[in-house]
Amino acid sequence: MPLNEDFISDAFPALNGDQVFLDNAGGSQVARHVADRLTQYLLGPNVQLGASYAASAQNGDMVHEGRTALATLLNAARPEEIVMGATTTQLLGQLAQALSQDWVKGDEVIITNFDHEANIGPWTKLADKGIVLRTWEMPKAAHSPDLDDLKALLGPRTKLVAVTHASNIYGTINPIPEIAKVVHESGALLCVDGVAFAPHRAVDVQALDADFYAFSVYKTYGAHFAALYGRYDALLAAGNINHRFFTRAKVPQKMEPGNASYELAYSCLGVIDYLEAFAAAHGTNTTGRAAIEAAFAIMADHEEALSERLLSYLRGRDDVTIIGADVADKAIRVPTISFVIDRQSSDAVVREVDKTGIGIRFGDFYSRGLVDGLNLSSGDGVIRVSAVHYNTLNQIDRLIAALEEVRT
Ligand SMILES: Cc1ncc(COP(=O)(O)O)c(C=O)c1O
Repeated sequence: MPLNEDFISDAFPALNGDQVFLDNAGGSQVARHVADRLTQYLLGPNVQLGASYAASAQNGDMVHEGRTALATLLNAARPEEIVMGATTTQLLGQLAQALSQDWVKGDEVIITNFDHEANIGPWTKLADKGIVLRTWEMPKAAHSPDLDDLKALLGPRTKLVAVTHASNIYGTINPIPEIAKVVHESGALLCVDGVAFAPHRAVDVQALDADFYAFSVYKTYGAHFAALYGRYDALLAAGNINHRFFTRAKVPQKMEPGNASYELAYSCLGVIDYLEAFAAAHGTNTTGRAAIEAAFAIMADHEEALSERLLSYLRGRDDVTIIGADVADKAIRVPTISFVIDRQSSDAVVREVDKTGIGIRFGDFYSRGLVDGLNLSSGDGVIRVSAVHYNTLNQIDRLIAALEEVRT
């Protein structure tokens, strides 16, 4: 189904300028619906929550509505399973702090060499208290990790496995339900970084069977904010990192020191408003979870077409190496596409493309283990083009023309 471009350009005023946004894995544009919710909160009474007067109770309800919206977005069983915060990096740091209160010297955590640092660093810091780190490595030249390699690393002391849902370099989707099964059979917890996946597909934490799942709202058409899902009993068991007199039963507030931004929490309702309006503009009049699933299903088809347009061009060049799966299949990848060009520095290519008004990016994108492992000669990482549903085939064609211009 062709996307309704009038609807999209009205929903994202920023798309109507001269800049083409193909660095969406860095951050997406914000839907008008989100800005409306934010304004509604900020122009209402701004008071501290938790008091007995009416305005305080009303603001408390609005923040709770924001938390509930995030629960709906992730299909969590209840709003208390959502911890809100500024960024995924901060939330995963808080999670590591809370969980490790009960871990002792010699306990083990499995990280990967293909995650973003946000789901590596917080766990590696625990080495200071004697936690042993093991690394699940991507097999050479593969884009999907091997479950047998994970099984070989799991042991009776493994407390947690930290893995990404989709790589922010490869764009490949990892089989989280299968990973969860293996991890749970060994008695460990699973913490999934969903940042590179959530802007592209409906997340269902219950179907994924993740114990913890984090994503960044600001890459998913919302404001600069993030959420961490924790299965209720797993959150209940975690330590308290808030005021010292909070008990462990205070879920999720014990994980939100200093509170999350109230207005940004409320603005998350706007992401659902947008997805509902998107579904309606494409012929599906539903609300809530059904609208979210319908909207992302339509987006996935369009994204697959965008991926195929760029990948078919890249596959046709004998001087290009695609870093990741070279197929567009929506079951395999999201439209985050990385590549390198023989004898051309990624830095120089991207700066030339900048001049055409198209924003792409080069580097390691903080997935340093993955990019270092590629042993690239240039030292300036990969070129990454990261599309989302509001990009058009025409924009991909313009990018291809720009890449042709800088071809040597
Ligand atoms: C895959 C992935 N995980 C985590 C992060 C960190 O997100 P945040 O900026 O919310 O800390 C990013 C940011 O680029 C990312 O791409």
